[in-house]
Amino acid sequence: MAMSNSTLFKSECFINGNWMSAKNGATIDVHNPFNRELIGTVPDMGISECREAIEAAHVAFKEWRDYTAGERASILKQWHQLQLDHVDELARLLTTEQGKPLAEAKGEIRYGASFVEWFAEEARRTYGDVIPGHGRDKRITVIKQPVGVLGAITPWNFPNAMITRKVAPALAAGCTVVIKPSELTPLSALALAELADQAGFPKGVLNIITTNDAPAIGNEFTSNRLVKKISFTGSTRVGKLLLRQAADSVKRISLELGGNAPFIVFDDADIDKAVDGAIASKFRNAGQTCVCSNRLFAQEGIYDEFLNRFSEKAKGLTMGSGLENGVHIGPLIEDKALSFVKEVVADAQQGGARIVTGGKVSADNDLIYEPTIIANPTTSMKVFNEEIFGPVAPVFKFKTEEEVISLANDTNYGLASYFYGRDYARIWRVAEALEYGMVGINTGMLSTAVAPFGGVKESGIGREGSKYGIEDFLNIKYMCWGGVE
Ligand code: SIN
Repeated sequence: MAMSNSTLFKSECFINGNWMSAKNGATIDVHNPFNRELIGTVPDMGISECREAIEAAHVAFKEWRDYTAGERASILKQWHQLQLDHVDELARLLTTEQGKPLAEAKGEIRYGASFVEWFAEEARRTYGDVIPGHGRDKRITVIKQPVGVLGAITPWNFPNAMITRKVAPALAAGCTVVIKPSELTPLSALALAELADQAGFPKGVLNIITTNDAPAIGNEFTSNRLVKKISFTGSTRVGKLLLRQAADSVKRISLELGGNAPFIVFDDADIDKAVDGAIASKFRNAGQTCVCSNRLFAQEGIYDEFLNRFSEKAKGLTMGSGLENGVHIGPLIEDKALSFVKEVVADAQQGGARIVTGGKVSADNDLIYEPTIIANPTTSMKVFNEEIFGPVAPVFKFKTEEEVISLANDTNYGLASYFYGRDYARIWRVAEALEYGMVGINTGMLSTAVAPFGGVKESGIGREGSKYGIEDFLNIKYMCWGGVE
């Protein structure tokens, strides 16, 4: 069946339980980054449709918050099941609009669905407290209540999972949502809305608007007093802007921003495992994740061995269309991303670093960048200081634990970090010393619905996933009971 004949292939937005076009009829073209072909169009909505969606979510909130946790959980579970029933279709759509290999896209759909399952279960566990009173006639109780309407702004690199990671805990808590997905990958978001509709959420509980004018929608979300909470995944630059804008209405805000992840290999590490971990963490999604290792550090005793084995493996990665079997590296999302990757590699070359493998655009596709390993980079280069967001791995040499901790922490970012080693005491010391929200110890993959995902420093505010992830959508209310004689 052609993708466009699928019920999950939508060209309208979902507001208040209805599928709608933009009021002025404007549309956005959605392209396949591999061959640049037009896949479909979605509405280019503006402030007026955004307000309509917010108002619908506000009205629906009054009903949804009163559902029992069990009632909310059962609709979420239905949504989860529908996502699993459509893994292949959702993954094909995702690869077509985003470019990542199909196996990774299927992984993302399952990963995305796992947040829905997890938070369906957590819905029942938003417990309050009873606190011993501060007077003989006093009793203290604490309850947790949903914050209200959520404005969710989600990125193109995980067009499915970054939606469910925000929306599932919000809905489980009793909030209602308006989602603005990336204009580069809106089809996966609209497919999720279709499945939400089939799952039976009451109208207005989940709304999606697509737009080319992200700043206008960001401004509406942050200034509209009916929106009680913003959750954003994207660049640190835009995150800071939203944080400033949200200040006027003192809105709650969660931010999952950029990273500059260190990946450290100590002399005593299992080198084979470290190489596998580095490949997984660096080249997933062609390097386009916030948790991709950005700066690799190998201790001097194993530097050459690690570099050689890592380069050999990287050379074996197959580039091409994500829809073809066996492809590991797909296209970058757009020309702007490619230009930036070229710029950081050129900067490293000009500074005297050595390209061990890769270092150029694929001969077969003008948006695919070859898996690239750079030896002997320095800390003044862009590869040390900027989030690369592409398949480029600079490998720095270090001597001591103290030195590498200082290098690893020498950044404003603090999202993911990784290290490989076997010395038990050092593992504790290093894990404690890394100024990051997440530390992978002898593993290059740390994303899961059951753990708290998030950063410190300029990498963000709040945690997604795990038992902590629902707290961001709940207000604490304290009740003081007097006169209990
Ligand atoms: C991200 O890149 O923002 C998310 C990556 C993940 O969940 O693993």
